[in-house]
Amino acid sequence: QEAHAAEMERTFIAIKPDGVQRGLIAEIISRFERKGFKLVAIKILIPSKEFAQKHYDDLKERPFFNGLCEFLSSGPVIAMVWEGEGVIKYGRKLIGATDPQKSEPGTIRGDLAVVVGRNIIHGSDGPETAKNEINLWFQPQELVSYTINAEKWIY
Ligand code: TYD
Repeated sequence: QEAHAAEMERTFIAIKPDGVQRGLIAEIISRFERKGFKLVAIKILIPSKEFAQKHYDDLKERPFFNGLCEFLSSGPVIAMVWEGEGVIKYGRKLIGATDPQKSEPGTIRGDLAVVVGRNIIHGSDGPETAKNEINLWFQPQELVSYTINAEKWIY
């Protein structure tokens, strides 16, 4: 069944500084890739603390907000946009529960992280957040539209 590219759902996924420092970039990308989702934007950057505060704006009243923003801006982050049917909700499923102690085995956080403050990955939690986060982290021209056709690239 073919889905029209223009209708395809997109989500914002980021590998946080701990995931990058621990050498988990390929492992994390691989899980989204093998599932069948499509990578349409990717870059590496060190976000400023002000930028981290913008990204986590909805959490500004929480006690962990400052530490969280310090952490996100403490080193390189891999910012990505992934595309596919149900990618927002299923991306969260691949990621696992916020607290790695509660994430199921088989999820990214369940398999690869131990504490909530070092849970290695971020994923948008709904359609509105996904749209806002993609707009915050990427310029429209950084998103690439393409089709996957393996045979054409083997022969
Ligand atoms: P949140 O948006 O609630 O979780 P998620 O990343 O799963 O969407 O929180 C954002 C990040 O804040 C979370 O990934 C880790 C951090 N955090 C803490 O450090 N302590 C906490 O008690 C919570 C709830 C989150």
